[in-house]
Amino acid sequence: MTISTEDELEALRVIGRIVANVLEAMGKTLEPGMTTAELDAIGRNLLEAAGARPAPELAYQFPGATCISINEEIAHGIPGARVIRAGDLVNIDVSAKKAGFFGDTGASFAVPPVTRRVEALCRDGRRAMWTGVREVGAGKPLRGIGEAIGKFAKKGGYTLVTNLASHGVGRSLHEEPGEVATWPDRRERRLMGEGLVFTVEPFLSLGAREAVEGHDEWTLLSAPRAPTVQYEHTVVATKNGPLVLTLAG
Ligand code: CO
Ligand code: CO
Repeated sequence: MTISTEDELEALRVIGRIVANVLEAMGKTLEPGMTTAELDAIGRNLLEAAGARPAPELAYQFPGATCISINEEIAHGIPGARVIRAGDLVNIDVSAKKAGFFGDTGASFAVPPVTRRVEALCRDGRRAMWTGVREVGAGKPLRGIGEAIGKFAKKGGYTLVTNLASHGVGRSLHEEPGEVATWPDRRERRLMGEGLVFTVEPFLSLGAREAVEGHDEWTLLSAPRAPTVQYEHTVVATKNGPLVLTLAG
């Protein structure tokens, strides 16, 4: 969506803070021995307590309040009986709706002990996301985001998943301006309008180049199979640059 009033911005700030706080709390709670269903229940309760409704089930009848994806799973993992173990790479994606507006955020958490490479992957995954966010601003080209992230990934010897795009968000979970590439995309010619709301969520990997369908109708797996992380913020393009809506606090 494109923000046109202060009230819209305020409502987006409210839901942005809620999803960020829930993500942070889930990341802190996560520990070996816990099932992803238990972790999801914590997220659901926190969202409910904040007066927000889980977006995946609201928008797509997803079977869970949050998406939790482990190791080979990189997105849209269904919370369930899978037990979190030491050494796992756990992605949690929290999106929710309150008062008619949606917020969307996500992060990957490495459960210690992990290899140095995976530790670096997490650190650089977050950096890749901020590299993209820094390119956000009214009047700037959308392709600048993917180009900057592409350069960052290449320099670090990483790959990017190039079939899971960022997206417009606000009045719906996925909306205009549609998909936004977090990899270099020559065909992208659009500029960011003032007040445009969308996510920046690159998938940085130690080898994967795409997401493929998994063992159920939701879960997406890395291909080729490799440790992959995702970090996501919802942002607004303003004339002063990016305004990040999904900060905890
Ligand atoms: Co998300
Ligand atoms: Co998203």
